[in-house]
Amino acid sequence: MKRYVILISGRGSNMESLLDAGLPGECAAVISNRPDAAGLESAAARGVATVAIDHRGFASREDFDAALAAEIDRRAPDLVLLAGFMRILGDDFVRRFEGRLLNIHPSLLPLFPGVKTHAQALAAGVRVHGCTVHFVTPALDGGPIIAQAAVPVQAGDDAATLAARVLAEEHRLYPRVARWFLDGRLQLLDGRACLLHEPAATGALHVPAAD
Ligand code: GRF
Repeated sequence: MKRYVILISGRGSNMESLLDAGLPGECAAVISNRPDAAGLESAAARGVATVAIDHRGFASREDFDAALAAEIDRRAPDLVLLAGFMRILGDDFVRRFEGRLLNIHPSLLPLFPGVKTHAQALAAGVRVHGCTVHFVTPALDGGPIIAQAAVPVQAGDDAATLAARVLAEEHRLYPRVARWFLDGRLQLLDGRACLLHEPAATGALHVPAAD
């Protein structure tokens, strides 16, 4: 059976959606860089091994990355899922796991990389926002896109209401992509995400809706 590891920093709702999806693989560990991450408790409650590696205990980013990589390697995972993991990972780390390292980002990349994506979207005045699952490469939030989900920006939205609408789609999208990978349908080939037997998307989202 394939094995996967999930990295978190906080609440862990995406992690929960992955753990609850009945993926064709075993979660070998949930690892947090913050010992107080609420998600560690919900992972443990689901019977998953949890590990905290406090990044504040390391002299440099490289030292932290090396400790994290060693902890992951010990589990020999086929797939590593960043799920609200809020540390920038160095190039060595990313290269070590390239091709089996995925991230979910709360915007329609390449729009709005970085943090505060919902506030960025509102400030830009876009009418469609969403989330992206991508392979992780050394470029921050810049790796090959695998899948995206779009939601409308509603009149009267603030960052919190918009974030909630996007998060509901994150919870659908990420387990779907993880399943593709664990089923052997998804790989990184020549810098592009390749999905076998890709289901065609149909329809269009109009915002505002047509009368
Ligand atoms: C999610 O919106 C994720 O896309 C972003 O940070 C948030 C983490 O939420 N990177 P959670 O910890 O998964 O609940």
